Amino acid sequence: MASILVFGGTGYTGDHIIREAAARGHEVISVSRSEPKEPLEGVRYETGSAEEVARRVVPGADAVVAAMSPRGDMAGRLVRVYGELARAAAEAGARYVQIGGFSSLRPAPGEPRFAEGKIDEQFRAEALEGEATRVMLAQNAPPELDWVFVSPAASYGAWAAGERTGTYRVGGDVALFDAEGGSNISGADFASAVVDEIDNPSHHREHIGVAY
Ligand SMILES: NC(=O)c1ccc[n+]([C@@H]2O[C@H](COP(=O)([O-])OP(=O)(O)OC[C@H]3O[C@@H](n4cnc5c(N)ncnc54)[C@H](OP(=O)(O)O)[C@@H]3O)[C@@H](O)[C@H]2O)c1
Repeated sequence: MASILVFGGTGYTGDHIIREAAARGHEVISVSRSEPKEPLEGVRYETGSAEEVARRVVPGADAVVAAMSPRGDMAGRLVRVYGELARAAAEAGARYVQIGGFSSLRPAPGEPRFAEGKIDEQFRAEALEGEATRVMLAQNAPPELDWVFVSPAASYGAWAAGERTGTYRVGGDVALFDAEGGSNISGADFASAVVDEIDNPSHHREHIGVAY
């Protein structure tokens, strides 16, 4: 059993991850500023801003998952906050899993990342900030930090929750597409991939993508 701390545990991604981790018998702590609408039995909920709660709870964690989003009043703040979480995880000797966006992936080996090209205005700010959090890790993570940056498929999120299928594929920083050219992953299957990576760490200081 590991102690897994999920920043953003009441959000779309975080809630799926805490459910998956708790179902596997891990000790799970969720962090968010608001109380959960439907608390999950067996999960400890810490309420407060990430920076404030991190000081108290990161020491002692085996894995720290950063699953907040750069929306609302968090727009423009994620790089700094994730930088602090990464430093705290390094000091605690905890594995650090940072959730990012599809746009940080590349369409093909050696090609620029989607975030470097033309992005629909609707997703642009979030895509660029997600990419900035990847750059922060890749260029400035403490050398001793065991991090992994995880990009979901393009069709992922509260608007496309999908079903648990029990399957997924893990790629590197080149996007995976299914036989029909689609890029999809359900919330439950993405969470399985994240918790599998915590249970059996196989990517170290790497960017991975999860899709069907
Ligand atoms: N296809 C894609 O590329 C795609 C699609 C969806 C999401 N994503 C990425 O996945 C990540 C998670 O997104 P999501 O949609 O799952 O997020 P979400 O549903 O918006 O949830 C965000 C969570 O973070 C918490 N939070 C925000 N600011 C906080 C702070 N300062 N301190 C503590 N907790 C805080 C929120 O709770 P409170 O507000 O109560 O604090 C909530 O629990 C993001 O990086 C997003 O860009 C990528």
